Amino acid sequence: MKKSLLKLVEMLLLICLVAGCGKSAAPDGGAMDESISKADSYITVGFSQLGAESDWRSANTESMLSTFTEDKGYSLIYKNGQQKQANQITAIRMFIQQDVDYIVLAPATEDGWDSVLSEARDAKIPVIVVDRRVNAADKNLYSCWVGSDFELEGKKVSAWIKAYTEQKGIDPSDLHIVNIQGSIGSTAQIGRTRGLANAAREYGWDLMAEVSGDFTETKGREVMGALLKRFNNINVVYCENDNEAIGAIDAIESAGKKVGPDIANGEIMVVSFDGVNEQALSYAREGKISCIAECNPLHGPRVEALIQALEKGNSPDKYNYVDEKIFSSIADVKSITVGNIEYQVEMP
Ligand code: AHR
Repeated sequence: MKKSLLKLVEMLLLICLVAGCGKSAAPDGGAMDESISKADSYITVGFSQLGAESDWRSANTESMLSTFTEDKGYSLIYKNGQQKQANQITAIRMFIQQDVDYIVLAPATEDGWDSVLSEARDAKIPVIVVDRRVNAADKNLYSCWVGSDFELEGKKVSAWIKAYTEQKGIDPSDLHIVNIQGSIGSTAQIGRTRGLANAAREYGWDLMAEVSGDFTETKGREVMGALLKRFNNINVVYCENDNEAIGAIDAIESAGKKVGPDIANGEIMVVSFDGVNEQALSYAREGKISCIAECNPLHGPRVEALIQALEKGNSPDKYNYVDEKIFSSIADVKSITVGNIEYQVEMP
């Protein structure tokens, strides 16, 4: 029996005990019963969002808030973790105390969730993990996950760099790459970093540095400025999200250098992830960002579908991947192939 129904039965039994069965529960019994059943007919969802570091994150939060509305029968408790796992753990404990029907967790990093997820399991509250993953020893500590294949995204961008530079006749050892990574320990960072590092090893690219830009424009600008002082031969900047790319482009241009795909003639190529921020998309149309692997933030309806499946007593798939595209306005590469799958390169 679903949790909300169980709660209703418990409340009705309590009313029977207090007021005597068959009698109204209060002088205005009808109204009291109505308020109990109304409150109980909502599905309560506690959503722990990790923060607000990027445009992707804002779009993701908006998708959740606009999905779990009272009109649709949900009571949503939203908590912003301000980029701190400790805040997210506190939020989850609060959701457990409030006895919500579901906990939705968008975790900052992968590690360190076992204890609080065990507490949720002991309280019989299903947990749905969204976007990044948790690295739990016992996979049954959460019901299911929905999000992106971040390593595939990294492989797609690497495949695009390979296809483009091969077409231009550039020797792999002449690619001098810096990686402005996302927040260290997050699935998005781990997957995208791995995608590039493996490609660099396989193809013989010169991957000179990996430094975190924390998925923010400010950090992207700061880190790029420092990298330009450290190396004078950077010709590819792999930014692990669009906000970092916007900051990095600003730093490159402020240093008097040109951003673009023509690395044989001294331009610095910038590649990126997300495809949400309007400025980044317009940079991609201009060729300032050479290629963007899409990371889709609209998880609200996907999480709702999982909750509805659980409400019906079904067991959704444990891992639910979102299909994503690759964007570039540079006509030279029409498609890329990763793991035997061909992806058409689309206009941003
Ligand atoms: O986990 C998804 C990543 O987190 C997005 O690529 C990035 O923009 C966000 O901050």
